[in-house]
Order: sequence, then structure tokens, then C-alpha cells
Amino acid sequence: MGRLEGKVALISGGASGMGSAHARAMVAEGAKVVLGDIADEAGKALAAELGDSAHFVHLDVTHSADWRAAVEAAVTRFGKLNVLVNNAGMVNGGPLGAFAESDWNQVLAVNLTGPFLGMSAAIDELKRSAPASIINVSSIAGLQGMAGLHGYTSSKFGLRGLTKSTALELARTGVRVNSVHPGGVRTAMTAAFPDSAATAPMGRWGLVEEVTGIVLHLASDESSYTTGAEYAVDGGESAGVVHNLGEHLD
Ligand SMILES: NC(=O)c1ccc[n+]([C@@H]2O[C@H](COP(=O)([O-])OP(=O)(O)OC[C@H]3O[C@@H](n4cnc5c(N)ncnc54)[C@H](O)[C@@H]3O)[C@@H](O)[C@H]2O)c1
Repeated sequence: MGRLEGKVALISGGASGMGSAHARAMVAEGAKVVLGDIADEAGKALAAELGDSAHFVHLDVTHSADWRAAVEAAVTRFGKLNVLVNNAGMVNGGPLGAFAESDWNQVLAVNLTGPFLGMSAAIDELKRSAPASIINVSSIAGLQGMAGLHGYTSSKFGLRGLTKSTALELARTGVRVNSVHPGGVRTAMTAAFPDSAATAPMGRWGLVEEVTGIVLHLASDESSYTTGAEYAVDGGESAGVVHNLGEHLD
């Protein structure tokens, strides 16, 4: 028996990067998975690779009608919806004064309003299919500030807060809500940064599979008493100051 036998999951941004790693692992653990993404070709190709256990839908997370259609696809195709992974995201940045209002609005729309719309569209079905789990992919930028990434940081702090408010509201419904906070992970999103730009105390970039491990745990009933929690997957980066001041003391 796989860890996710009998579960049906909807993963936004499931066509590539971390979302695709989560999809592969969930299917391997026995789940049925609906992949939602704006990247239609990559999404269809992954669904074809995963076979009957996967289905692709075009989903722009900023459009509530797309979300409603994605939830309906999960129910029509696989009978229910137990797991929602709000993984789709984007990054932009720029110094205060030069960072455009349109860029601010866009990153908040995708990274914060998107998960809100997703949870809103899915909640009735998640309650019906409980035990159910919502996994909101925030970031280390939802735990601590990042210079130059004002919109991104705000969106990821917002998603962490939305996770808490919804977890509390839903605590007695059988729907759990938790956030995951990756540090620097090697995907298309971080392709521009050299290996030497790794900021984690572990001294390296994370791998998508290392985030998938936590997502599988939260999606499964192994985490049945966990809601409103935040999981850092960041090589120690959010633990504190890595510079060893103790070396300067007697
Ligand atoms: N890579 C990192 O270092 C890192 C660190 C912390 C958090 N994150 C977060 O992890 C999540 C996944 O990121 P990734 O690194 O796999 O990035 P990625 O760019 O590889 O994948 C993001 C996916 O989201 C999709 N997407 C973008 N906008 C969308 C929209 N409006 N509607 C639907 N889908 C959309 C893209 O097409 C893509 O398939 C994001 O929320 C990101 O902010 C990433």
C-alpha cells in the first residue's frame, strides 16, 4: 500500500519544478493527481508520462473560474478531492522606488490571491472528502525578509498568515492546512543564480525531492494531528545567524 492510496490531489504549478516532483511522488505513492498549470505543453506531457493516475487541466491560479473547473475535473475524473497543493508561484523584484506597482500586483495575484482562490474553490469538496489536507507552498521569504524581493516576500508572508487563519477555521472539519517554506531549491526559478550563491548554512542548494518529502508527509494521514504548522526546508537558513560570534569570545 502506498502512503497516499485512495487520495486525490490537485497541484497548482504541477507541470514543472517542485510541482512536477510532487506529482511524480504522489502517483508513486498511490494517489490520483490533477496537474494544473498555465504551461499546457509541459503539463500534458507529464500527465501522459504518469498515465491513468494523472490528468492535466489548464489552470491560471489568478482566475477563479479555472479553479472551479480544476476541482470539477478532479471530482469527475477521480471521484473526490482530498489534497490541494498551492504550489504555483513566480518571483520578481527590484529596489523600492523602482519596483513597479504592476509587478507588485502581479506577484501578489499569483502567490497570494491564487492560493486564496484555490482554497475557496476546493473547500466544499475537501470537506466532503475529509480527511483532507491543504499544503501552501510559501518560502523562506515567508519567514524572514529578503532584500529586493518586496512583493515576493509580502506574498509569502501573506500565504503563511492565510494558512494560519484557514487552519484555525477548519480545525474541526477534517481539513488540515499547513505551509511549507523552501529555501533556495534548484528549479527554473533559480536557474539564473550560480551554485556559489547558495545562502543556506548547509552550503548548497536544495533539491526538489527534499521538498517533496515534506509535501508527501503533509498530504498523507501520517500528519493527521498537524494543522496550522510551518515547515522550513531550507538547509538551516531560517534558524538564525550563521556567523560564529562565539569565536571572538574567550
Ligand atoms: N525554487 C526555489 O528556490 C523556491 C524557494 C522557495 C519557494 N519556492 C516556491 O515554490 C513554488 C514552486 O516553485 P518552483 O521553484 O518549482 O518554480 P518553477 O518556476 O519551476 O515552477 C512554477 C510553476 O508554476 C507555474 N505557474 C506560474 N504562474 C502560474 C499561474 N498564474 N497559474 C498556474 N501556474 C503558474 C509555472 O508554469 C511553473 O510550472 C513557488 O510557489 C515558489 O515561489 C521556490
